[in-house]
Amino acid sequence: MKIFIDTGNIADIQRLVDIGIIDGITTNPSLLAKEPGDYRENLKKICEIVQGPVSGEVTATDFGGMMTQGRDIAKIHPHMVVKVPLTRDGIKACKALSGEGIRVNVTLCFSPSQALLAAKAGATYISPFVGRLDDIATNGMELIQEIVTIYDNYDFTTEILVASCRHPMHVVEAAKMGADIATCPPAVIDALFNHPLTTIGLEKFLKDWEKAQTVKA
Ligand code: G3P
Repeated sequence: MKIFIDTGNIADIQRLVDIGIIDGITTNPSLLAKEPGDYRENLKKICEIVQGPVSGEVTATDFGGMMTQGRDIAKIHPHMVVKVPLTRDGIKACKALSGEGIRVNVTLCFSPSQALLAAKAGATYISPFVGRLDDIATNGMELIQEIVTIYDNYDFTTEILVASCRHPMHVVEAAKMGADIATCPPAVIDALFNHPLTTIGLEKFLKDWEKAQTVKA
């Protein structure tokens, strides 16, 4: 399964990409708005750091506006993927941009019917938001299972990009279900590394080794 970072923060991206386990980046207007500087320049820098897809989202809500912004975002760098919202105009733009050879990530997906429409419109990625469903007392991961079933039934090539991941178990469940990608904030990726027994075990190994060196000396 691929792991993407859901952030516009260049320092976090550089730090995690350096470890060697990051496959791509997703951003959204809220995330990019938090970062200083010009958003196009920031996206370009991110594309130069990551050897993989980088999603940048349109802010237009009408078909024409999405097409103009989508083409502009795609021109920033060959790694760019255009993110469009799951609305009627968004699905229409997904079909048209995909037809021009531009990769599209359809975002703000909250139901299996929406995911079916994105796949039919040729989306490269569908982004179901699991955390925001959990927030309203609906099991977000059940949506992922439904989309996996639907896409497998018809061999859709659209990749399932599990978004709004809030904790490591979202990532683990996504991997068990066979989702293609989980996109996580930096803190969730950091949490994937942690286990108290790893920390305790390493401390003991190093202490025992140190003790043996002192005895031998
Ligand atoms: O980028 C879309 C998604 O991952 C946002 O997550 O935590 O704001 O619901 P969140």
